[in-house]
Amino acid sequence: MDSGGKQLTLPLMVAVGAAVIGSLQFGYNAGVINAPQKIIEKFYNDTWFQRNSEDISTSTLTALWSLSVAIFPIGGIIGSFSVGLFVNRFGRRNSMLMVNILAFISAALMGFSKMAQSYEMLMIGRFLVGIYSGLSTGFVPMYVGEISPTSLRGALGTLHQLGIVIGILLAQIFGIESIMGNSTWWPFLLSFTFIPALLQCIILPLCPESPRFLLINRNEENKAKSVLKKLRGTTDVSSDMQEMKEESRQMMREKKVTIIELFRSPLYRQPIVVSIILQLSQQLSGINAVFYYSTSIFEKAGVAQPVYATIGTGVVNTAFTVVSLFVVERAGRRTLHLIGLMGMAVSAVLMTIALALLEKLTWMSYVSIVSIFGFVAFFEIGPGPIPWFIVAELFSQGPRPAAIAVSGFCNWTANFIVAMCFQYVEQALGPYVFIIFTVLLILFFVFTYFKVPETKGRTFDEISAGFRQGAGSNPAEKHSPEELNSLGADSQL
Ligand code: GLC
Repeated sequence: MDSGGKQLTLPLMVAVGAAVIGSLQFGYNAGVINAPQKIIEKFYNDTWFQRNSEDISTSTLTALWSLSVAIFPIGGIIGSFSVGLFVNRFGRRNSMLMVNILAFISAALMGFSKMAQSYEMLMIGRFLVGIYSGLSTGFVPMYVGEISPTSLRGALGTLHQLGIVIGILLAQIFGIESIMGNSTWWPFLLSFTFIPALLQCIILPLCPESPRFLLINRNEENKAKSVLKKLRGTTDVSSDMQEMKEESRQMMREKKVTIIELFRSPLYRQPIVVSIILQLSQQLSGINAVFYYSTSIFEKAGVAQPVYATIGTGVVNTAFTVVSLFVVERAGRRTLHLIGLMGMAVSAVLMTIALALLEKLTWMSYVSIVSIFGFVAFFEIGPGPIPWFIVAELFSQGPRPAAIAVSGFCNWTANFIVAMCFQYVEQALGPYVFIIFTVLLILFFVFTYFKVPETKGRTFDEISAGFRQGAGSNPAEKHSPEELNSLGADSQL
């Protein structure tokens, strides 16, 4: 049941590589304000002093800083929701290419903010690159999912997350005081985002448009065929073409799917609910409490070199994304997501114990490091990569852009809530702050266990057919997640 070639060809790798530069941008900007928090806060204070002839109060500084962190996901919310405005009009590849303008403007604003003594410029810059990142989290999984052969879709889909985590790691390393995390160089640290944007502008024009877009949206069969031949490295692409045509026929019947219809139609209700909850499980796991604030968490946990512990989280993060990359086509999405959620819940409990006992037992600061590393490692096994690409898998070409927009919007909104509220909740609950995430993680585990189907090894059309049957066109044919699992396993043979 595999559709055509399984080869990882050079054109396929270049195309995926060019796309995931967008993911790297997202990760870089998500991670970049963590390590230099103190230094940039000093700039805020100096600027404030200059304007008002008095020091900034702690509460105003917390508010300004939280806003500077959280304005990035606000941009993300807007960007992710706007994906549908671009992808069908300009195509997948051109959409990715054109939004780089946002990254360039943002780099300029952030880079000159110190010179202009304006934290407002920094915030607007973060807002714009947030929009870019929100768009990327829609464009990249969509493009990668659409150009990949079925048997590699999960592994290549995970590269979106790998791009993100490498971006975070780069930001953490560059943020070391002796590199760019100091009062002279921090504007460069922020405007580094210029370089990946430039790189993407050079490589993307060499990459093909999504053949699914060409065939299904544009009806350009010959072009689609020649792109497929290049991507698959074979002249026989008939099975891919046939599968895409089947999807196209299905789409003619469905017509254009709007966001409202996603919720109204029984065909889409289950997959959209699954998509949204998976995205929420990614963000409300509390992962970004770590990635936005780990330096101050480690500091409070009595760790001597918090910036290095933060880099440690980035290394663990990257290593376990690679693990997921290699096992996702074998173990399946559902199993990995379940393992990840449970492992995170256990790590969060450990972390709470460590933080609560810190005053009595100083060695608990080591336990806190280990549990944060565990938390991050389990995240990358499943909840990190899977929600991003599974949405593209759960929908066919017609509803896919709307579904990606809605679920991306939910992801980014939850991201914003954690970014904005974490410091306040932490001030109120102290060491018990991660208990909230533990409870949520357990709830998401239960949901995944009962409701999330396996998509491994199944074509887009087979997956949506599973939901069509599940939606009750013939109740006798309803599939439970376990049955869908075995469907997936069969198709691997
Ligand atoms: C995921 C999340 C992102 C987070 C990252 C951490 O991509 O969407 O918000 O920062 O993982 O690795």
